Amino acid sequence: MSGLNFKNMHIQIYKEDKGINFGKWNDAISKFLYKTSTKEILSKIKIPKLVADYGGANGNLKEFIPHSISIDIDESKEPDISEDILRHEGYYELVVIRYVLHYLNDYEVIKLMRKINAKNILIIQFTNQDLKVKYHNSKNEFKYFRTKEQLEALLPEKIKHIFSKKYKCSKKFYKNRLQINNSIEHLEELQAYII
Ligand SMILES: C[S@@+](CC[C@H](N)C(=O)[O-])C[C@H]1O[C@@H](n2cnc3c(N)ncnc32)[C@H](O)[C@@H]1O
Repeated sequence: MSGLNFKNMHIQIYKEDKGINFGKWNDAISKFLYKTSTKEILSKIKIPKLVADYGGANGNLKEFIPHSISIDIDESKEPDISEDILRHEGYYELVVIRYVLHYLNDYEVIKLMRKINAKNILIIQFTNQDLKVKYHNSKNEFKYFRTKEQLEALLPEKIKHIFSKKYKCSKKFYKNRLQINNSIEHLEELQAYII
């Protein structure tokens, strides 16, 4: 698939996103995103033996699926496999993609969905109805935030929506987690889909 050439774009990543402590933050929003919501979502599906965690960073998902294999492009997070998920070859019974799709442009999301070779795919992703506010709060990074409709337009038609919950991203969250002082408080929605 061809599209815009993002190869030369300078993608900055927060230093908080690097390394093996990723996702271990103690604030209420992080706990909801990385623990309680995932527990609830996973309780709705059957977990098979062969599970890949695409963009799985330092393997946070192992807390819930100890045998999951994390595949991530960022070596600093010490994933099980250091590789670009857009190039990774492999068959899995379940591929989990949690908080990764906003790192990919639309072409890449479509490409990834076509490339994955798995019986089931579980997508856990936040969406934002007010994109102006979300981008206002996004500094020193390059991400692709989407509304629920924009996200769903990129996913396969047979996908099933299995979870949705709204939560508030406070000024304190942006200050503590990302050192942003002039953030605007906003609502965000967590979605989960299974194919
Ligand atoms: C917000 S983190 C989420 C990590 C993990 N899924 C979790 O929920 O704890 C997004 C991760 O996706 C990874 N990522 C982004 N694009 C990628 C790509 N093309 N191939 C592999 N990993 C990628 C990043 O390096 C980062 O570790």
